[in-house]
Amino acid sequence: MRCRMAIPRVDLQKEIMQQRQLGKAGPRVSAIGLGCWNFAGPYGPTSEQESHETLAAARDLGIDLLDTANVYGMGVSETVIGNYLRKHPGHFRIATKAGIRVDRSTGARFFDNSPDHLRSELEASLSRLGVDHVDLFYIHRREADRPIEEVVDTLGRFKREGKIGGFGFSEISPASLKAAHAVAPVAAVQSEYSLWTRQPDLGLVQACKELGVAFVAFCPLGRGIFGQQAPDPATFGDQDFRKSNPRFTEPNLSRNIAAISPFKDYARDIGATPVALAIAWLLARGPHVIPIPGTRSASHLTDCANGVSLKLTPAHLAEIERILPAGFAHGGRYSGTQAIGVESYC
Ligand SMILES: NC(=O)c1ccc[n+]([C@@H]2O[C@H](COP(=O)([O-])OP(=O)(O)OC[C@H]3O[C@@H](n4cnc5c(N)ncnc54)[C@H](OP(=O)(O)O)[C@@H]3O)[C@@H](O)[C@H]2O)c1
Repeated sequence: MRCRMAIPRVDLQKEIMQQRQLGKAGPRVSAIGLGCWNFAGPYGPTSEQESHETLAAARDLGIDLLDTANVYGMGVSETVIGNYLRKHPGHFRIATKAGIRVDRSTGARFFDNSPDHLRSELEASLSRLGVDHVDLFYIHRREADRPIEEVVDTLGRFKREGKIGGFGFSEISPASLKAAHAVAPVAAVQSEYSLWTRQPDLGLVQACKELGVAFVAFCPLGRGIFGQQAPDPATFGDQDFRKSNPRFTEPNLSRNIAAISPFKDYARDIGATPVALAIAWLLARGPHVIPIPGTRSASHLTDCANGVSLKLTPAHLAEIERILPAGFAHGGRYSGTQAIGVESYC
């Protein structure tokens, strides 16, 4: 029998934002973070004022984890956050990343996990953010030929110097995670994970749980596909990440919109928005999973935060699985170029 049961929920205004642990020895942070790549315009234009309003909304909602990187707008995202923090210090835990470099003459990306590069990028991030340490520092992409043990040594030095609270890796395999964790505790792994990107279920989510590592789920909204209105390619600017992404180009896009339509109907039937339901689904994958939706707007962030207050029952989860079974998506999550640097493991 299909579950169309209204969803139990708690009024966010009355409930203190739930918290989750950022790794075994890490701080407690809000159950969802705020993805701040969006402050640099990968999904459309925005302004510093709009970004600051979004940060103010995050504070009001009890969201205290910010996710950024040195390459988000080549410093723009961190600068916007830094300008906010200078006026409103405290409250936020900050995670940033380094390890991706861009060849200025060709625009090609390559990866550098050398001690000198990581140190100079970390210093530059601290300066843009206007802080003397960040809570979490990720290797954005691994440099394939550099032993992970050497990279962990470098990160350990930054930690002993008090410049970072903990470290993590983005888009790495369970085998690499285990090798790194054998040298020193990894606080978090960050990978794409959502209703239409389920690869982490094939070992990475489990490895994180086993080791006590937080699994930070990026692109939890499928780059906007789970929004009430499906993204319209006619509005994608030249810099829009989705412009060359297989899932957002035809014929895949139309097929994906059609496949997700019953999920949006289901969300409406049970009294939720599709965005909140997509976030709630991720939170139900395990207590170590921390989704970091990205948005430029305070109202969209409130919608995301409402996902924390949805209490999904096994019947709701079974119905979601029936509507959107693992592997339903049409097209790869990355184009060939976008996939460079992601560690494959299955
Ligand atoms: N480690 C990595 O390699 C990596 C890669 C990608 C992303 N990330 C991190 O993960 C964060 C989140 O991922 P993401 O931003 O790429 O993808 P996402 O969170 O899945 O989706 C972002 C898109 O959803 C839209 N959206 C957000 N809330 C909405 C709502 N309530 N209703 C309708 N649309 C909504 C946003 O538009 P609006 O701005 O208009 O709200 C934006 O277009 C990033 O900001 C970044 O910090 C990390």
